[in-house]
This record gives sequence, structure tokens and C-alpha cells, in this order.
Amino acid sequence: MSAQPKIAIAIMAAGKGTRLKSKHPKVLHEIGGKPLLRHVIEAASKLVPVADVYAIVGYEGDRVKEAMADTGCKFIDQAPEQLGTGHAIMCGRERLKDYDHFLVLSGDTPLIRPEVLERLRNFHLQHGSAMTLLTAEPENPFGYGRVIRKTTDGFIGDEVQAIIEQKQLSKMQEQIAEINSGIYAMAVKPVFANIGKLSTDNPHKEYYLTDMAALLSKVGEKVLAFKEDAMAETLGINTRAELVRLDAQLRAAKVAQLMNDGVTVYKPETCVIDADVEIGADTVIEPFVQLLGKTKIGGDCRIRSGSVISNSVIGDNVNVRQGTIMDDAKVETGAIIGPYSHLRPGSEIGAGAHVGNFVETKKVKLGKGSKANHLTYLGDAVIGEGVNIGAGTITCNYDGVNKHQTTIEDGVFVGSDSTLVAPVKLGKGSYVGAASCITEEVPADSLAIGRGRQIVKEGWAKAKREARNQKI
Ligand code: UD1
Ligand code: MG
Repeated sequence: MSAQPKIAIAIMAAGKGTRLKSKHPKVLHEIGGKPLLRHVIEAASKLVPVADVYAIVGYEGDRVKEAMADTGCKFIDQAPEQLGTGHAIMCGRERLKDYDHFLVLSGDTPLIRPEVLERLRNFHLQHGSAMTLLTAEPENPFGYGRVIRKTTDGFIGDEVQAIIEQKQLSKMQEQIAEINSGIYAMAVKPVFANIGKLSTDNPHKEYYLTDMAALLSKVGEKVLAFKEDAMAETLGINTRAELVRLDAQLRAAKVAQLMNDGVTVYKPETCVIDADVEIGADTVIEPFVQLLGKTKIGGDCRIRSGSVISNSVIGDNVNVRQGTIMDDAKVETGAIIGPYSHLRPGSEIGAGAHVGNFVETKKVKLGKGSKANHLTYLGDAVIGEGVNIGAGTITCNYDGVNKHQTTIEDGVFVGSDSTLVAPVKLGKGSYVGAASCITEEVPADSLAIGRGRQIVKEGWAKAKREARNQKI
């Protein structure tokens, strides 16, 4: 047995994407809540270690590199000019020359599945091919490069003679149904031995990678077509309409998979569920819900209409009521959130806790079974277990310059309409009288009242009415 061949994957992602009419690079546009290029890198790294995945970047290359840095892939610069797909691979020579083979993908075909790439790779290796193209037969081949297969003794086999781009097709060749998907497997030696022969003698004045087929075929190297019924997933994105269509396609597949795994999604066409969201069985998602980023939701939860949840982690049995917004928050088992709560970054809501109507939280730990049910702002606070936060309570965390911490220990009762001026601490089991302004520490088990004393003037209102000849 010979040693396993060393295989890299090169993803062409240097184009500008003119037809999107955008100031942002094409491959950073998103479907399923994730940049196009990230989808492709993730598919590629299911086939080879991510350190063998190379994104070829050019237009706004630094931005693309920064956005993809955490994937661990490597980068090849095609700069300052992008002179075509052939030029993109020429720029990769130094990085790719020590491999045996490499696959070529495009950064704008985000639906490509690793299984298809694997079959392409296997076919390429088994046949000892120099260049293998993934091909398809779409209903309408217009716009694609067409595959001219070789005819030997009257038979058409897998060998390819050339790829002809749309603009250069003869009338006869326009009838060819088989198109080049732009995804290839290539053997390093023959490809780099011949790539220098590419020319820009074509309508776009670009180096076409597709011309490698004819070049290699002419020098007796094997060029093969591998036809798969994978048209839908090799579709590239060129326009906004295509971007939105693929986004819808991906999300529909995502919902189908979630339902398959035991999640109920009512009126899924109204929901926006990102590609990386995870949801446990028996959770019910109501219409018009958005679940974004890396959100993870447990089982037996109910997420009610109008909630928008980003990058949050929710335990089992949680009830998220209508119109709740969560960003980078954590909610533990059995909690009840909403309606109309806003959990901002760093909110950690304990098991069985309640956060209710028009309550905003930020960098807060709310302990097990604690309740803040109405009209409250809790920011920069650590709140223990079994605490009751009365309606209208505000943690005054900001003094105009710095943020300060509020500490509320287990079993504290905060009366309605209290303002807690941080830094401040409410000791275990203490009480705060309604409408208090608390500026000093409240010792454990004590009662603090911080408000003007009530004055009662008997008969005052009646006298006033009578003076004005008013009746009740
Ligand atoms: C290419 C193929 C065509 C095939 C089609 C499939 C060529 C000449 N033609 O055409 O046969 O049917 O894909 O979709 O290759 N890119 C770079 N650097 C460049 C130019 C392009 O990285 O200098 C990248 C683009 O960002 C894109 C990919 O290469 O991700 C493909 O380029 P594109 O211009 O879209 O090629 P097509 O015209 O679609
Ligand atoms: Mg294209």
C-alpha cells in the first residue's frame, strides 16, 4: 500500500461580486446567518484538516481574513489584481506544491455538501486523473461553461477534451447540456507543470482555470468529468435574489431537520432559524420567532411568537413568552421569561426564576427561583436565590463615569419602585420598603426604608373642593 496522498482544498474567494452591488466582499454576505465563505470552509474541513484548507482572497482580502480567522483555515493572496480563476490557482502554487492533490471550490457556493466532495475526490484518485471536474445537467445550462467529452471509437466516455465558456460556444456546442460546476479535483504535478501555459486570449481577458482541461488533455494527461445530480448545491450566488433564495432553501432544510429531531416549528415559513442553532426534542417554536447565531435551546421549552434570541443558551422546560429579546444570555431550567423582556449580554437567569413584562437585564446573575416580574432594570448585579424584586425597581449602576455593582443576597425582598444606587449591597433576608432610594448597605435581616415620610392633612382636599365649588 502506498502512503495516503496529501490533499488540500483551495477555495477561490477573491472576486468582488459586482452583481451584488455591495461595498462588502461577496463571500462575507450571509445565508443562514453565516458568511458564504464560512459555509464552504466548514464543508471543506469535514474532508481534510482545516489547516489544509486555503481560502484564496483578494478583493477586501484583509476583511475576509479577519472574518474567517477563527476557522483556522489558511489564506492565499490573489492581490493586488484578480486576473481570473486560473490566476487564482497560479497564486496558490507555493502553498499547494507540496501536496499530491487539491480540490478547488468557490467561496460563493455555500450549499456544497462534504459527501459530494468526498465522492469527487474518490473518483479522481481511483482513476488516477490529472483533473476531474464535477459536472451537472441543469434545466437551463445558459451562462455556464460547457463540458466537451472525448469520443473514442464512436463512444463518449468520462474523458474531457475541453471546457468552453458560454461566450465562446459555437451554435452546436450551445446544445450541450452538461455544465462545469466550477468544482474540481486536481493533481498537483501535472497542473502546476502546465498552468503557466494559460493565456488571457478570451473575451474577459482573464486566465481561465477551465482552459486547464484542454491544456492537460493535449499533453496526454487524464481529464475526467464526474457527473452528479448536485446542481442545487453547486449553485453560486451572484445576485441578491439568489442570495435570498439560497437563504430560504437552507433555512427550510434546517427546519426540516429540527422537526425530524422532534422539535415542533409552527408556520416555519415565518421563522428565521440560523444554520448553527440547536434545539432539544419536544420544544415548540411558535410563528414569527427568530433564533440566531449559536443559540442552543433545551428540550420541552416553548418559545412564543415575536421572540428574537441570539447567541443564547436556554435549558430545558423554559417558557419564553411573547416578544422577548435575548442576546448572549443564559437561562436555566424551568425559568419563565417575558412577555416583553430584554435579556442583554451577560444575563444569567437561574433555574425556575421569572423575568417578566418590560424587564431589562444586563450583566446580571439572577439566582434560582428569584423573580423580577414587572418594569425593572437590573444591570451589573449579582442577585441570590429566592429574591423578590418589586415592580419598577432600578439598579442605578452608572454614575456618569463608571459602572458599579449591586449585590442582593438570598431571600431579599425589594419593594416596588425602589432605586438601588450602586455600589450597594442588600444583606441576606433583608427587606427594602417600597419606593426607597437605597444608597447604603442594608444589613442582613433588617428593614431599610429610604423615602420621605408620609404627611396626612385631614380635611385638606375637601376644603379645597369647597373653595372651588367642586363636587366629587
Ligand atoms: C466559472 C467557470 C465556469 C463554470 C462556473 C460555475 C471559469 C472561467 N469559468 O465561471 O466554467 O460553469 O464557474 O459557477 O472559471 N475568483 C477568484 N479570483 C479571480 C476570479 C474569480 O478568486 O480572479 C473566484 C470568484 O470569487 C468566485 C469563483 O472564483 O468565487 C468563480 O469565479 P466566477 O467569476 O464566478 O466564475 P464564473 O463566471 O461563474
Ligand atoms: Mg460564478
